[in-house]
Amino acid sequence: MIGAGDMLVIAIDGPAASGKGTLARRLADHYGLPHLDTGLTYRAVAHALLIEDLSLDDERLAEQVAEALDLGALDRDRLSEYGVGEAASRVAVMPAVRRVLVEKQRTFASTPPGAVLDGRDIGTVVCPEADVKLYVTASPEARALRRHQDAPEVSYDDVLADIARRDARDMGRTDSPLKPADDAHLLDTTEMDIEAAFQAAKSLIDDRLATRT
Ligand code: DC
Repeated sequence: MIGAGDMLVIAIDGPAASGKGTLARRLADHYGLPHLDTGLTYRAVAHALLIEDLSLDDERLAEQVAEALDLGALDRDRLSEYGVGEAASRVAVMPAVRRVLVEKQRTFASTPPGAVLDGRDIGTVVCPEADVKLYVTASPEARALRRHQDAPEVSYDDVLADIARRDARDMGRTDSPLKPADDAHLLDTTEMDIEAAFQAAKSLIDDRLATRT
């Protein structure tokens, strides 16, 4: 889908359970690009601390874990477990951890032929020069319902409370808070299924590609 030798970087940001991850995977498949779910990098740091029963509040320790992280060895299933996300949003407020992970994420993005990255600060901090930036959102209730359907063992009310807590932490932190980049396209998926979101994103990206040729 992209010309030989061309780079394409697609930055996707948004709050928890907005559908950005599924959208990022579909777009990566479609355009033949590698995909990095940057939330997994924060989750991996938190998970490594949790399984060793180490403190989630020791910034120097979390930074060392981040330095040792291999982006090629992220185990989505284990890292997606309910509870790891909450711990991840705690280590994600630490500037030292962010510095190390952002560096690794930038290396991933700048390797030809480019990549699709999704997270909270991709368009604003990690890849401010991305070719296309999308900010995917949905109402807290719609997001809670999706998470609850994926993990029915957790009640809808608990998921909604968890989402509200994580939104507050992700949007309220001082270092790289979640917010749309000035030049991001907003995609509200509250009333959209994944196919509709994919088609909307694809048409924005195709328009951008058309202006390059
Ligand atoms: O998208 P997720 O739920 O897997 O992300 C887990 C946590 O990691 C989230 O609460 C905030 C943090 N995160 C971040 O601060 N910056 C990113 N680029 C990605 C995730």
